[in-house]
Amino acid sequence: MLVTFPLLDAEELRCAHGLLAAGHWSDGRASAGAQAALAKNNEQLAPQGDEARALGQIVLQALDRTPRFLAAALPKRVFPPHFNRYGGQANTYGPHVDGAIRFLENGTRVRTDLSCTVFLSPPQDYEGGELAIQGTDGERSVKLPAGHAVLYPGTSVHAVRPVTRGHRLACFFWIESMVRSHEQRKLLLELDDALVDLRMAGETPATVALTGTYHNLLRMWADT
Ligand code: NI
Repeated sequence: MLVTFPLLDAEELRCAHGLLAAGHWSDGRASAGAQAALAKNNEQLAPQGDEARALGQIVLQALDRTPRFLAAALPKRVFPPHFNRYGGQANTYGPHVDGAIRFLENGTRVRTDLSCTVFLSPPQDYEGGELAIQGTDGERSVKLPAGHAVLYPGTSVHAVRPVTRGHRLACFFWIESMVRSHEQRKLLLELDDALVDLRMAGETPATVALTGTYHNLLRMWADT
């Protein structure tokens, strides 16, 4: 299941682009596993730099105030956002899977249940650069307005198509969810969405009961 949502506002994007322009960029292969390194050809913002940390804060704060993200991801841990750039000679990332476990600086493990990409460049600024995600129902090609995000299963084979004009700037990170199973997480999101619709007509005994069912399922399935 793919979930897309607007994340950053115009002021946050303006601030982000200032930081992206000031940061130090290097070969993205440094952070890829052996197999992914063969497919990866992009540039990455130094993750320990002041710019990456400030950018990460902008993204994390935006995630915290975005109900769609919280409902869809049910986040337990969010890996610090990273930033990449595709264009010129470093313009693509062939089909690959992301590693299942990432390590935080303090050694804490993060299981990559979900991947998230935040598009930072306006689509008209570059040609190509679609995020292609393979699923059981075929391949989905995603290219979103600047500031919009896509959440997709960390289990997916995915690729970034070659950027043939301009530059594509993006943010990416992983989420360990309180609900590990994609099927269970999907059911909870569908129930949550239906409840939001039902509540538009006001609370009733049925909406209260269904809200209870949502929370009881979450209690049964969540690992906090
Ligand atoms: Ni990837």
